[in-house]
Order: sequence, then structure tokens, then C-alpha cells
Amino acid sequence: MPSHFECWEVFAMVEEATKISGASRLRRPAAPVPHSRNLSTLAFILELGKNPIAAFGARAYREHYVYERSRLRHFLMVAHPDGIKHVLLDNASNYVKSAQAQRQLKLALGNGLVTAEGASWRFQRRTAAPMFQTRQIAAFAPAMADAVEAMLARWRSLPAGAEVDVADAMMRLTYDIISRTMFSNDVTMDYGEMSKALATYFENVGRVDILGALGFPDWVPTPRRLRAWPALRFFRREMDGLISRRRTALSENPAAVPQDLLTLLLTARDPEGGKLFGEAEVFDNVMTFIFAGHETTANTLAWTFYLLSEFPEWDARVAQEARHALGGGLADGENIVGLVQSRMVIEEAMRLYPPAPLMARDAVGPDTVGGIAIEPGTFVLVPIWVIHRHRALWKDPDNFDPERFAPGARETIHRFAYLPFGGGPRICIGMGFAMQEAAVILASVAREFRLSLKPGHPVEPMARITLRPHHGLAMTVWRRDTSN
Ligand code: HEM
Repeated sequence: MPSHFECWEVFAMVEEATKISGASRLRRPAAPVPHSRNLSTLAFILELGKNPIAAFGARAYREHYVYERSRLRHFLMVAHPDGIKHVLLDNASNYVKSAQAQRQLKLALGNGLVTAEGASWRFQRRTAAPMFQTRQIAAFAPAMADAVEAMLARWRSLPAGAEVDVADAMMRLTYDIISRTMFSNDVTMDYGEMSKALATYFENVGRVDILGALGFPDWVPTPRRLRAWPALRFFRREMDGLISRRRTALSENPAAVPQDLLTLLLTARDPEGGKLFGEAEVFDNVMTFIFAGHETTANTLAWTFYLLSEFPEWDARVAQEARHALGGGLADGENIVGLVQSRMVIEEAMRLYPPAPLMARDAVGPDTVGGIAIEPGTFVLVPIWVIHRHRALWKDPDNFDPERFAPGARETIHRFAYLPFGGGPRICIGMGFAMQEAAVILASVAREFRLSLKPGHPVEPMARITLRPHHGLAMTVWRRDTSN
């Protein structure tokens, strides 16, 4: 284990004023400040359990490979784009999702696309691929725009200067969008109940499992796993009902059934042989799309609005572009295509705050990565959070600068230095869906509203599988003057 890893002593939630390019003074977006104190293996594991992104020391941001051999486990951290490419793409078949990550996810996601391996994953991936093709995703744009419009209608009735927890608002919104695009709103469960169950799950199972890291087997009913089970039972009951209602509707009158993600999942056929998804695979993938697709996108938007509040010149650019592209109408699959500034801002927000901040694999066989010979069973960490702020890969890595993603500049970024959606064969299947959703939400909100962080509100990025603002985001909602 990484005994010589250095820890971050102070968790800096206040933004520092930092000088950039010797000219303008910009605020440094909230992030833990790396500290150079060495940690023992146990202290490192405990730190991982509290907040994994705060466990990396300053050295991790400068080195490309950190390799540790211990009696417990061999550990390799890869932060060099060529090494990452080797693990995720060139020799991907030698690396399976880590037992640690599987322990966190399988409880809820069973054997769906995120957690499956081998032949089962290959079948699921090629069968689900058409559901996420560009044309299919564009067909979901009106449902996305309707959901944003419902939220904005509520905001319009708020008194001037009202305060909203934007992190929570984005969770509700992306949950509404997944309900509309997956279930055509045939959801009976109340958002409050659902969000409580999700929060319980993430708070308990989403932490790094310390007993697991120390070698306790999966079936040990740890207190956290016990606390997560009622939340999972709740989901199971709700989803079972939804899926069986849709199966009945499909068998009675297929022509009248909505073409949403659930119908697509129930009717998708393997291009190699025509097999349908089995009953358990349908259930596990419904859970997978909810879990993988709702928190991640909500956090992307929450961090985007936080950054726009800190950088008013970018806020103005995004608002102007949105007014120009959308006019007085709703966002759709066509008018968001030309949103260049908004996409640059979203991509930079995902660099600074990658919604899935860590990826982990276990080596199946021996291999050599970056000149380091590793043995089967080595735990390989691809720390997206660290890679996106690596001193050797980015200029002014901790600062917000969407120009990095401007057309022309973006092409110069190494494909495996920027990984919000992962890379290689297991790259996020929902990437196009998420980018469209983020663009629709950002443009629709920015055209009409300006959001400003409540003075003094603490902003602390916290990793619980996804990267969220730990204290929410208390923001004031201002109506823009859209008359000119
Ligand atoms: C901004 C939003 C999102 C981010 C940042 C994100 C990030 C990621 C990342 C990093 C992976 C790779 C994990 C690994 O290799 O270990 C992944 C995989 C996956 N994501 Fe996303 N995701 C997002 C939205 C979505 C959406 C909207 C959906 C579906 C509706 C989705 C479904 C999946 C699935 C099914 C996989 C597993 C793919 C496979 O292994 O074949 N994601 N995502």
C-alpha cells in the first residue's frame, strides 16, 4: 500500500486569490490543498475512507507512476497518459474493474453494464450501444428541455434574490430527466423518498470500504452495508413494479408503448444472434442507468454553476451565447449544437471537478506499465482527480480556464490526459446523453437566470463514488434582463 503517500493536512474550502499569467487576479476554485506530510498505510486507508481526493499528497501531482509493494497488496498509481492508455485501451483485457470498486457498486448495480466483465459485458455493451447513438439521444432533447422548463417555471415564481440549493436542484432535475427519458414519467416513487434512499446508499456504500481494503470478504455484514440494504430494498420494489407494468403494456399493445430507454432496453437485440436482455440484466441496467446517469450529470451542473458564479465574465459569455442560440424557444437537439462557449465551460468544470474522480482496476496477469513490471492482482489506480490537476500535464492546473477547450486548443490535449468519461472499450456509454443534457440545462438556465454563491457558503468537494459539493450549494437566483 502507498505508505509513502503524502497527505493533505488542511482541507481548504476557501478560495485563495491566485495570480495568473502575472496579469489578472482570479479566484482559485475550491479544492483540498496538498500537504507534504507522509502517512502510514493505515492512516492513508482511513483518509481514503473520509474523502479519497484528500488522501493524495503533493508528490502524486508531480509523478507519473507511484508503485508500492507491500505484504497486503501491490499498488500502482498511473498518471502518465501513455500508461493510462496502456491500461485502459492497449492491454485493457488484462485489467478488470477492481474488487474494491465492485464491492461498492455490485450491491446496487448487480451485473449491469458498469460492473459486468468478460462475455457478459461484451454482450451487454454491443446490445445497448444503439440506445445511445446520436440520433436516439437527440430524440430525448425535448423531454430534457421540458424537465428544465418545469424547474424554471418554479424559479420564476420565486421572490427576487431567493436562495436555492443548486446541488439539490440539479439532483432533482436530472432525476426528473431520467424519469422522463427512461420511464416516460411512469414513476410512482416520490422524489423525496428516492433522494433519501440514494443519499443513504451513497453515504454508506459510496465510501471506501475500510474493512474491505483490510481484506474482509464481501459477505461480512459491515455496519455500512447493513445501513444501505433498506435503501436498496426500496429501489428494488419500485423498479420491479415499473418493469413489469411495461412488459405487460408491450405484450398487449406494442405500438402504444413510449420509445423511452426502458422500452429500448426491453426490446434491444444482440446484433450477433438476436438475443434479448434477460430479466436480471434488464433490472440491473435500469438501476445502472439511474445510478450512473443521474448523480454524475447533476454534479457536473452543480460545479458548472459554482464556477460561473466565481467567474462572471464566463457567466456573461454563456448567457449571451444561450440567448443567441435559443432565442425565445426551448432547447432542442439542433439549437444546442452550436453552443461552443457552454461546452468549453462544461468540459473545464469536469476537468476541475471530475464527477467520477477515481477509476480502479485489478491486473489479471503480469504486465509492464511505464517500465514497471507488475504482478497479477496488483491494484491499479487511475486517479482522474489527480490527472486533471497534474503539474506536468496542465498549465495552471488548479485554475478555471475554459479556453483550454476552445476549438483548436482542445485537439492538443492528450486523449488520455482528460478522462471525465474514462477511456478505452469501457468508456462511458452515456457520454453523448450526458453532454446533451448538460448543454440543454446550462443554456436554458443561463439564458434567463444568474446564480451567485451565497457569501461565506463553504464549498468542499467530497468523493462518494461521485464528486459532490459536501455542503450543497446555497445560491441566490437572479432573473436576468433578457429585453436586449
Ligand atoms: C457527466 C456525466 C457522466 C460522467 C462524468 C460519467 C462517467 C463515467 C466514467 C468515468 C465511466 C467509466 C468507468 C470505468 O471505466 O471504470 C462511465 C461508465 C459508464 N457510464 Fe457514465 N458518466 C456520466 C453519465 C452517464 C449517463 C447519463 C449514463 C446513462 C444514462 C451513464 C452510464 C454509464 C455506463 C452504463 C457505464 C459503463 C460502461 C461500460 O463499462 O461499458 N453514464 N461513466
